[in-house]
Amino acid sequence: MQIVHSLDPLRSAVAQLRQSGTLALVPTMGALHEGHLTLVREAKKRAEHVAVSIFVNPLQFGAGEDLDAYPRQLERDCAMLEKEGVALVWAPTVDVMYPQGFATNISVSGVSEGLCGGSRPGHFDGVATVVCKLFHQVLPDMALFGEKDWQQLAVIRRTARDLDLTRPHADNILGVPTVREADGLAMSSRNAYLTAEQRLQAAGLPAAMKKAIATIEAGSSVADALATLQSDLLASGFLSIDYAELRDADNLIPLDSHSPRPMRLLVAARIGKARLIDNMAVTPT
Ligand code: PAJ
Repeated sequence: MQIVHSLDPLRSAVAQLRQSGTLALVPTMGALHEGHLTLVREAKKRAEHVAVSIFVNPLQFGAGEDLDAYPRQLERDCAMLEKEGVALVWAPTVDVMYPQGFATNISVSGVSEGLCGGSRPGHFDGVATVVCKLFHQVLPDMALFGEKDWQQLAVIRRTARDLDLTRPHADNILGVPTVREADGLAMSSRNAYLTAEQRLQAAGLPAAMKKAIATIEAGSSVADALATLQSDLLASGFLSIDYAELRDADNLIPLDSHSPRPMRLLVAARIGKARLIDNMAVTPT
């Protein structure tokens, strides 16, 4: 497994790999867990070679967010990736990614608005900009992202379509279902911020979401189901709810009642020092 930190060795490594087959990219910010490794395993099924990028992207963190506290453990991450048979780790420094004078921003309207885009202004500009750069740097045939970050996946697909990206092409931006702990909590690097007690309470998030989905699918009012969801979260020990919304699963248009199209329930809530997000499918009835 090659580990590279600057562009020239990256280009040589990529050129060499591409000679002997297809290349899949899994972009990450490190502090890897089973969720990330599941993306890597899915990538291995679909391409001869897998590249993983590890870069804690300052552009997608707002003022007062956890950029400095975000866990950084490159050696441990690389050991995990080596075991998975990853060919290449792309771990640029901030200076390599954003050279002196860097002034370009990719801003996606529509799907970026509201939800995490509402509570984290500028976040998806940072994501779209770094992911576009990663695609140009690694030139993969495909890229894999987790459905855990549903809005992020929608933003990246929109960017790829709008900018006519070909490596990867928008059709080769693949979503992988959320990997969960035994009690249903979605795996996240940010779960590490929780105390043991908060970690137990955090399982209240997927539980409350499943309950809300069951009532919506049974035909109850969406507004009532969302109100109950919020009070259930506060009762479980969450401090506040950034959002709890029903949206069209594909175009993310807000819904206040059932739709005949696939729907998605998306929630962000704060517990202890962590802001946790989750989303689940709501089936049209
Ligand atoms: P990060 O939070 O490290 O996540 C990297 C990838 O792993 C994302 O596609 C995310 O959706 C996926 N992932 C995280 N937890 C998951 C889980 N429990 N199940 C399935 N997939 C999961 O998302 C980012 O980094 C960044 O925004 C990035 C795309 C790398 C751009 O900086």
